[in-house]
Amino acid sequence: MTAHPPFFIIAIDGGAASGKSTSSKVLADRFNLLHVDTGSFYRGVTAEFLRLGVSAVDSPAVVAAAHALHFGTRLHRRSAVMELGGRVVPDAEIRSRVVNENVSHFAAIPAVRAALLAYQRGQTGVARTHHFRGVVMEGRDIGSVIFPDADFRFFLHADPVERARRREKEGGHDSIAERDRLDSTRKTAPLACPVGALSIDTTHLTPAQVVETLAAPIAAKFSRG
Ligand code: DC
Repeated sequence: MTAHPPFFIIAIDGGAASGKSTSSKVLADRFNLLHVDTGSFYRGVTAEFLRLGVSAVDSPAVVAAAHALHFGTRLHRRSAVMELGGRVVPDAEIRSRVVNENVSHFAAIPAVRAALLAYQRGQTGVARTHHFRGVVMEGRDIGSVIFPDADFRFFLHADPVERARRREKEGGHDSIAERDRLDSTRKTAPLACPVGALSIDTTHLTPAQVVETLAAPIAAKFSRG
């Protein structure tokens, strides 16, 4: 029997512009992990629903549309890119103002979260098939719902003024305070630091310092095999 090499799951949760994306991409490169940005999945689904004319307040239509989704995954370097019915929603569309404004409303709907749950967990299979050493998955409920038994669970947060400054610097039109309010107060899988996760305030840290804070315990564990 062939022994499988250890496979690692790293969960990174936090609000918008808390530093998740930058650090998870660097960790993916450094430790040969599949990078999975679950926010981009919620954004892709939102863009698809808007394209179909489905409104977030029309529950039966959302449930029907969520059941009809056909997911696939493509790789772009080390990142998992979602396909819907064989099509990738272009990045400009998933980062658009209309998606920013609608994504938290769709993400609050249990049928939408249920539709994405198995797909997100299934990214471990994609990672194994492509010989990654594990996954680094970023989102809002990764350490609480998707992978509560992950090897590492981090929760990043930062002062709202600093986060708005970061988003503006990226050139985004995004009312992150409003999205965070909706994401934190929804009933299903709200944004919150999961019990036992390592909470890190990134307000006064550079992106490189955030990476090093996350990488140190991972490197220690990896070197032990
Ligand atoms: O990470 P992001 O800002 O691109 O995420 C977009 C939205 O998707 C966010 O406002 C809430 C939702 N989301 C979620 O509810 N659960 C996740 N695991 C990831 C994102």
